[in-house]
Amino acid sequence: MQTEVLKLTQDNMDKKAILKAAQIIRGGGLIGLPTETVYGLAGNCEDEEAAQKIFKAKGRPQDNPLIIHICEKNEIYKYAKNISHDVQKIMDAFWPGPLTIIVEKRDIVPDVVSCNLPTVAVRMPSHEGARAIIKACGVALAAPSANLSGRPSPTTAAHVYEDLAGKIPLIIDGGMCHIGLESTVVDMSFGEKCILRPGGVSIEMLREILPDFKGHNNETALPNDGVAVKSPGMKYKHYAPKAPVTLFKGDVESIINCIINRAKMAEKKVGILCFSEVKDKFCKIENAVVIDLGSKDNLEEIAHNLFASLRSLDEEIVFETFAMCPKNAGIGVAIENRLNKAASFNIINL
Ligand code: TXA
Ligand code: MG
Repeated sequence: MQTEVLKLTQDNMDKKAILKAAQIIRGGGLIGLPTETVYGLAGNCEDEEAAQKIFKAKGRPQDNPLIIHICEKNEIYKYAKNISHDVQKIMDAFWPGPLTIIVEKRDIVPDVVSCNLPTVAVRMPSHEGARAIIKACGVALAAPSANLSGRPSPTTAAHVYEDLAGKIPLIIDGGMCHIGLESTVVDMSFGEKCILRPGGVSIEMLREILPDFKGHNNETALPNDGVAVKSPGMKYKHYAPKAPVTLFKGDVESIINCIINRAKMAEKKVGILCFSEVKDKFCKIENAVVIDLGSKDNLEEIAHNLFASLRSLDEEIVFETFAMCPKNAGIGVAIENRLNKAASFNIINL
């Protein structure tokens, strides 16, 4: 199958691209869809066969449910029931935006989308192009991140092309995703009120609306243990470049010295993911590819660059990567969560 790429910018929305996308979705096909978080691999959420195609194209495990993307808040009532006042409050505060809410599902959502769970994940993206496409489709879109399972999520159309060219007919190119990390997933079903996956909406922001919100413990243990079970996707290895990653946390000076020593000892080509403020410290290491994630004080910038940086390590064909972990507040919790997984919990605390 030939994969066409059509451009769509937020201020200059190309009607042709939107109509083509809608035509493919209504015909049961899949598209690469830009959102403010990461690109999605989207299909008609009411169509069982389209959902099956999504699992197949990504190589996604059959027990990892999909998020339904809507273009108007009220559509949540079409796909979910028993929507509480608390759910309404966080919908009003954070939609459209990077918040996915788990609620009790209605029968219109095929079991293949929810992986036989009694719940469904719903999100209303703030990306205007994404919403225009959903609207033109006339149906909500089931869409996981548009990467092959296990790879870092795509933040550009080129990343989607890398992973899915030949498997889908169309990728809508909306430029680089503004946030760069996937949405926060919160469980609000059956009286729950907790974060299952940290993301663009932080626990601090949620507690401003609902003070008793339960945070995410950022899994200090290996994936596959109890915390992972609630949100099936969290137990799988994710976001990983091909070469092993070691993640450094703690005192910055000690981390820099340790990375310099380890890199020099390695002899082979290594990757170093670091902050702008310290990148010069590594410039004399000949076998290192140094990637600047952004300023240590600008967590939004680091989030924006993270997945593209992880992918570029594969292009550079490094044998090992050393990564610095930013501070653990706001969206930093989500960055740490993705780095923990990229490193398969191979963490050095200094
Ligand atoms: O930002 C995002 O959320 C992106 C864009 C495309 O919207 N999508 C995304 O989808 O990251 P995906 O499939 O890569 O991640 C969905 C996460 C998984 O961890 C999955 O297990 C969880 O949401 N999830 C989906 N439905 C669930 C449910 N009913 N109960 C618990 N967790 C669920
Ligand atoms: Mg994903």
